[in-house]
Amino acid sequence: MGTLRILSGMRPTGKLHLGHYTGALENWVEQQNQVTEEGARVYETCFLIADYHNLTTSLDTRDIFSHTLDMLVDWLAAGIDPEKSPLFRQSQIKEHAELFLIFSMLITSSRLERNPTLKEQVRDLNMESLTYGHLGYPVLQAADILLYKGNVVPVGEDQLPHVEITREIARRFNNLYPHPHIGDVFPEPAPKITKFSRLVGLDGKAKMSKSLGNTILLADGPEEVLKKMRNAVTDTEKIRKNDPGHPEVCTVFSYHEKFANPDQLAQIEEDCRAGSLGCVDCKRICSANISGELAPLLERRRYYEANMDLVKSILLDGEAKAEVIAGHTMQEVRAAMKLGEKRW
Ligand code: TRP
Repeated sequence: MGTLRILSGMRPTGKLHLGHYTGALENWVEQQNQVTEEGARVYETCFLIADYHNLTTSLDTRDIFSHTLDMLVDWLAAGIDPEKSPLFRQSQIKEHAELFLIFSMLITSSRLERNPTLKEQVRDLNMESLTYGHLGYPVLQAADILLYKGNVVPVGEDQLPHVEITREIARRFNNLYPHPHIGDVFPEPAPKITKFSRLVGLDGKAKMSKSLGNTILLADGPEEVLKKMRNAVTDTEKIRKNDPGHPEVCTVFSYHEKFANPDQLAQIEEDCRAGSLGCVDCKRICSANISGELAPLLERRRYYEANMDLVKSILLDGEAKAEVIAGHTMQEVRAAMKLGEKRW
């Protein structure tokens, strides 16, 4: 069996925050660098900038390129290595649109209307009606994944329905259109859920998110992290420093669970419950841990930000590589479907 391919992506919404890091980016880097005992890579990794998908919730494209570059710098700062992982914009590889069109015939609109992630989004954004393209969000995502024959798709929980739809489309295509030589054109990709797929926002809301303004950015330096942390919501029943706290309801403790080492975590929990650790000190510990984790990212960020021409050429290079893979898959698709038959 060959190396498994990982395909994942994000929408370019600008600078990334800690939720993106713990929910996706950190895992991407780990999977990119994972090797067998013989030193071979476990996965081939491809990461996509879903700029078309952005249009589903915003038609304002004025900042799309600056947001793309901001996100790319965050990826590189986090340790994505463009030599190992092609990085590319969906909009630059025309095969995404082509495969999306074909896939849109292989799924019913009622199936897409049942998508819980879509329902959640419509509710959260108070959308009165839906565009045709937005309904097709998972179909485009299926094209993203299957153009590169992704076997594994690391995603947060909210994306599970989309990977399921991708599997259904792959099965349907393979059944309808066996390729004369290779049989199944597409693999049935498996989702890989990340443990910290949702990081609570600083305000205690369920999710860290740009639109809620409750984030710590990957670009935030130690002072900024501390400043934001000071306003973080804790256990509302712990009013005075020495009141006993309830870590299970505390936002800051949920960060400790991710960023403190196990011994430190146990100590924090004990001291908080006993009332011997006040929130101010607790937040200071938490900020230091987060900034410690972000320090190497800040370092790499400085390098890339001083070399934006390099960042742009990384993107063009990734797009050239992606184009080759996508073009090859589309040839197989056309051959399997007998589209563009050469015999008259
Ligand atoms: N829908 C994903 C999100 O909002 C982004 C995305 C687009 C994606 N295409 C993808 C994720 C392909 C994984 C694979 O997070």
